[in-house]
Amino acid sequence: MKILVAGGAGYIGSRLVPNLLDHNYDVTVVDNLWFGNQLPEKAKVIKKDIFELTAKDIEGFDRVLFLAGLSNDPMAEYSPAQNFISNASGPAYLAYIAKQGGAKRFIYADSCSVYGYAVNKFYDEEAPVTSSYPYGISKLQGEFGAMQLADENFSVICLRQGTVSGYSPRMRLDLIVNTMYKCAKVDKEITVNNPSIWRPILAISDAVKAYIRAIQATEEISGVFNVASANYTVGQVADIIWEHFKNNLNQKVKLNIKNIQDFRNYKVTTKKAREVLGIDFSGSVESILEELDKNCGDDFDYQKDNYYNIKVFKNLDK
Ligand SMILES: NC(=O)c1ccc[n+]([C@@H]2O[C@H](COP(=O)([O-])OP(=O)(O)OC[C@H]3O[C@@H](n4cnc5c(N)ncnc54)[C@H](O)[C@@H]3O)[C@@H](O)[C@H]2O)c1
Repeated sequence: MKILVAGGAGYIGSRLVPNLLDHNYDVTVVDNLWFGNQLPEKAKVIKKDIFELTAKDIEGFDRVLFLAGLSNDPMAEYSPAQNFISNASGPAYLAYIAKQGGAKRFIYADSCSVYGYAVNKFYDEEAPVTSSYPYGISKLQGEFGAMQLADENFSVICLRQGTVSGYSPRMRLDLIVNTMYKCAKVDKEITVNNPSIWRPILAISDAVKAYIRAIQATEEISGVFNVASANYTVGQVADIIWEHFKNNLNQKVKLNIKNIQDFRNYKVTTKKAREVLGIDFSGSVESILEELDKNCGDDFDYQKDNYYNIKVFKNLDK
């Protein structure tokens, strides 16, 4: 099977693409390489913006994955106009040419951020979507743009991912567990802006499983799926990391608890993804920490600009 992964040189792609190659899929990555290229040499990588692709470029591909765009709130707020172009029009355009070019399925890296500030109950895929900030709005627009193209000959699967964390060769330290791990390690202090806020966390190992299941699912399946390893409050995440450093690494970390209002708060159910796509979520904050311990040893450079999306993004303007 031939798979095109747009944005495949990013954080999720750099774990997913090697895994797809191990499954013997024929993979081509199209990426503008904002964060360089840490993919294995045998991966076919084309340095290109997705808006330069046409339906002709898609011919022969069975699956097209969208992992591109601006991937967090700070980037979206720094450049709201580019955010709406990249995250709303980007998936719609790629899905459009994927369908024109004869691909059978489009898979969209969606986000649970579409739920915005939810009331205190578990949200399934039918729950209201209420985000009022550029990133969340644009991810929802991208979902609409892709989903409306689904029909009996063209499947669309949108994976509404929780906040992903864990190790990737293209590392990000601006994602909740990774950030707190870095703060514990480097500053010996974790600041929690609001301990009561809920967040679904998706271990990157589970994210990879979700994309593989979405690639393999029978072609009649289309739809929107919440994907998360588990729901945690931000306070719970900090406590688990605090205990990990105390018990496993013998290091004392200070917890600095604040009470700053957040515009995101949601917890989600993943029953549909488990039952329809057969995704077996097995990650947890603890498994993410084990992975970080293994890969981010004493010589790991926590200050590298490349690990912080907003730093790289601001430099693109210069
Ligand atoms: N990481 C998370 O916690 C998370 C959670 C929910 C949703 N998502 C979504 O998953 C996707 C991947 O996230 P990530 O963490 O790997 O992000 P990332 O920023 O590490 O990777 C994005 C990649 O896309 C490329 N790219 C951006 N715009 C492009 C364009 N127009 N043409 C070609 N390449 C382009 C970048 O160079 C980069 O390599 C994003 O769409 C993001 O919104 C991520």
